[in-house]
Parts: sequence; C-alpha cells; structure tokens
Amino acid sequence: MIKVGIIGINGIVGQTMRKCLLKIKNIEIKEFTRADPLTDMDIAVLCTDNADSVKLIPALEGKAGFIVDMSSEFRQKDGVPLVIPEINPQTITKDTKLIASPNCTVTPLVMALDALRKVYTPKEIFFCSYQALSGGGKKLLEEAAKPASIYYKNCVPQIGSILDTGYSSEELKTVLEARKILNMPNLTVYPHTVRVFVDNSHSLGVTIKAEQEFDLQKVKQLLSSYAGIIYGENIFTPKEVSGKDEVFICRLRADMYDKKIIHFFTTMDNILKGAALNGAQIVEYIIKAGLV
Ligand SMILES: NC(=O)c1ccc[n+]([C@@H]2O[C@H](COP(=O)([O-])OP(=O)(O)OC[C@H]3O[C@@H](n4cnc5c(N)ncnc54)[C@H](OP(=O)(O)O)[C@@H]3O)[C@@H](O)[C@H]2O)c1
Repeated sequence: MIKVGIIGINGIVGQTMRKCLLKIKNIEIKEFTRADPLTDMDIAVLCTDNADSVKLIPALEGKAGFIVDMSSEFRQKDGVPLVIPEINPQTITKDTKLIASPNCTVTPLVMALDALRKVYTPKEIFFCSYQALSGGGKKLLEEAAKPASIYYKNCVPQIGSILDTGYSSEELKTVLEARKILNMPNLTVYPHTVRVFVDNSHSLGVTIKAEQEFDLQKVKQLLSSYAGIIYGENIFTPKEVSGKDEVFICRLRADMYDKKIIHFFTTMDNILKGAALNGAQIVEYIIKAGLV
C-alpha cells in the first residue's frame, strides 16, 4: 500500500482531496490536522496556505518521498514542476521532490489552449474571470455571508493584493502560470480577475488570437476530443457544473472582425479540477508511472 498523507484535512480543498483520493486503488490515506504529528508517508499532499506550506516542507524532510503542494508559494520556483496531468505530467521525474498544483483560474484557460495548440498557435489571450467565493477558502465563504461584507451580493474587481504595476497578484499568477505550464514563455496574456457572489465554480470569458485563421468546426472538434473538457452548444453555468470533474466550454463564436480571433465562456469546479482533483491526479500519475 502506498501511503498518501493529506495535510490540512479540515480545509475546503483537504475535504475534497479525501473524496478524490478515495477513488485511487491501493493507497492508504493518512489525515493530518494542525494538531497531528507528521508521520512517514510516500506522498504528502499539502492542502494548506502559502505560509503553512513553507513551514511544512522542512518538517516533512525525510518523512515524505514526494510533496504535492496546492498553495501558490513554489509554483514559479525553478526545479518545481507546475503540473496539470493532461498537459505536462512528464515534468515529474523520480528526482522530483516538490510538485506544485496550479491556480484554479488558469486551469481551464491552459487546458483549452493545450487543446487548440495541436492545430493553432495562440498569440494573445484576453480573459475576464468570475471567481467563486470558495476560491478564497473557508474564511472568505464565512465573511461573504455577512451583509456588511464587500463580497455580500456583490462583485469585487480585486483578488489578492494590488502590485506596483497595477495588476492584482491573482492576475500576475495567471500570466506566469500559463506560460510555465504550457512551456510558452512569450505567451501574451491580458488578465482581469473579479470575485463574484457565487458559492462555487470559477468562470472566465476568454478571447484568443492565434497566428492562423480559425475554423470553428475544427475548434469544436479539438475541444470536444480533449480529455477533461466538455464542449457544449448549450450554455453551462457555475451552479450546474459544481461537483463535476470537467472543464466546461460554451458560447464559442468567431470574432466579428478578425478570423484569427475566437471567443468562448468556460466554467469549472475550482475545488475539484482547480485544486483537489488536479492534486489527486498528480498523485495517481506518480503511482502509475512507478515513481514510488
Ligand atoms: N479553494 C480553491 O479554489 C483553491 C484552488 C487552488 C488552490 N488552492 C489552495 O489550496 C490551499 C488550501 O485552500 P483551502 O481553500 O482549502 O483553504 P482553507 O479552507 O483555509 O483550509 C486550509 C486548512 O489547512 C489547515 N492547516 C494549516 N496548517 C496546517 C498544518 N501545519 N497541519 C495541518 N493542517 C494545517 C488549516 O487548519 P486550521 O483550520 O487549523 O487553520 C485549514 O483547515 C491554499 O493554498 C489555496 O490557495 C485553493
């Protein structure tokens, strides 16, 4: 039995991580709250905030073979693969120690781009996000329920801190993470991230400009045949995709002025494919590839 430890079991991601890991055969799941001493395990999954992950990594030295971290702390660090198993699992090797799971907003974007780049070369991406409250963890869900909160029945055009450039930290993450996951260091991404009064599932309105003219039938076929994406002619909403594993894409349309541009809407359960499911798929890959 391969021992997989969930650290931060009482958080939103930790609870969903348990459900996702229970579907993997031949593993023994160990659960850790803040009060539990860390014991030996093959793979540790950190479902903790940045500051806690920073403290946990040295504490796990000699106790865990691989560490899969859900926080953003190490995503840009050299030598730390930032992995979506449908896109770049091969960046994990037997010498890898720490693996980062990406930001929940970038995931649907890069999966769509990965599907399209089999035929098209993406050049410029614009998106505006509609991010659910659950993306901010238990604390934000509790805060937003209070009528005095800015989040209550509102949408808030700031996620994370505002940087000197005027971008928010969340916007910068999406740019850097998209480039790293896709291994496209010069990809141009114009992000705009907004928190909305939706309990769960993040959505994005996306515009993509490619080097080639788009053929909508070809785009539909590329999206429909990509593992983990469901393309529909009907509309999908965050409420109906909550609890589902896939990235949902709808409202695909050609641009009115430029044949090299398409637009679509995407929505996805940010706790599942945006966090816990992606982390569990990384665990599954490590096991199936025989790395533990
Ligand atoms: N929510 C999302 O959509 C999403 C998506 C992608 C990535 N992430 C990332 O995933 C991580 C977890 O997010 P979340 O939304 O689940 O946050 P959360 O609801 O705040 O849960 C974090 C949990 O970690 C626990 N914890 C902290 N230090 C610990 C330690 N040393 N040992 C054991 N448990 C410890 C906390 O315990 P206490 O309750 O005792 O503090 C809390 O239960 C964050 O880094 C977040 O940025 C979240």
